Amino acid sequence: MTKPIVLSAALALLLPLLAVSSSVVDFDYFYLVQQWPGAQCGTKRGCCFPDAAKPAADFGIHGLWPQYLSCRPAAGADAFAIVDGPPRKKCWPANCDDRDPLSLLQIRDLLPELERNWPTLSCKKGATYMDFWSHEWRKHGTCSGFDQHGYFEASLALKARHNLTAILAGAGIVPSDEATYHLSGVRDAIREATEVNATVECSKDASGAAQLYQVYLCVAADGSGRLIDCPPPVNRKCADKIKLPPF
Ligand SMILES: *[C@@H]1O[C@H](CO)[C@@H](O)[C@H](O)[C@H]1NC(C)=O
Ligand SMILES: *[C@@H]1O[C@H](CO)[C@@H](O)[C@H](O)[C@H]1NC(C)=O
Repeated sequence: MTKPIVLSAALALLLPLLAVSSSVVDFDYFYLVQQWPGAQCGTKRGCCFPDAAKPAADFGIHGLWPQYLSCRPAAGADAFAIVDGPPRKKCWPANCDDRDPLSLLQIRDLLPELERNWPTLSCKKGATYMDFWSHEWRKHGTCSGFDQHGYFEASLALKARHNLTAILAGAGIVPSDEATYHLSGVRDAIREATEVNATVECSKDASGAAQLYQVYLCVAADGSGRLIDCPPPVNRKCADKIKLPPF
């Protein structure tokens, strides 16, 4: 599909929704989390191509996640809160409306773009792309202020606007079995292209070397689509030198 996704239109949906919705969830910013597929394949978990052909060697969306700037003590109804070591803390809102399951009909026009840009590499039996999108919508999307279509459209638009694969390649950071790259070089390349500091997360490959796994771009909560500097910690489990394994 070549139809461009219009960012401003997608994000313009947010403000009216926030204004009229009675179940507004307050949060401080979004993470747009993208995964490097080569990093998942090189771990113990492995990777599979559940209900589609092998995806492109491109970053894929994990999700658009509303976040709190500081974690809050979790209580009572927040039993679903993220456990961050005792005492229980809630660092982001989650599962804000379980009566609003994702409907394929709502995102039908986005399916080609979603399949290309938001794949899952899950090896779980029976895993499908739709399961992944439903999970992200249920857990994070229902707290985002977007409706179903707006949530996926805004995520796709943000990804298209900040193409990490192209940004890294432009700095000579390309997938390779042999090369290692300075973490600072990865961070600099992203900052030069986006003008903000991202959060970078690594995982370990089969030999224990750090590899680029996920990049978190921080997005203002105001619906403008504007990127902001990510709050610390901006380095999750990365060493000074990291790999970008081929996919
Ligand atoms: C991102 O850039 C890469 C490398 O230039 C390209 O192959 C890919 O199609 C781009 N992705 C999107 C979603 O435009
Ligand atoms: C962004 O990262 C650079 C390099 O690590 C650092 O010097 C700068 O202070 C950071 N900016 C913000 C706003 O955190």
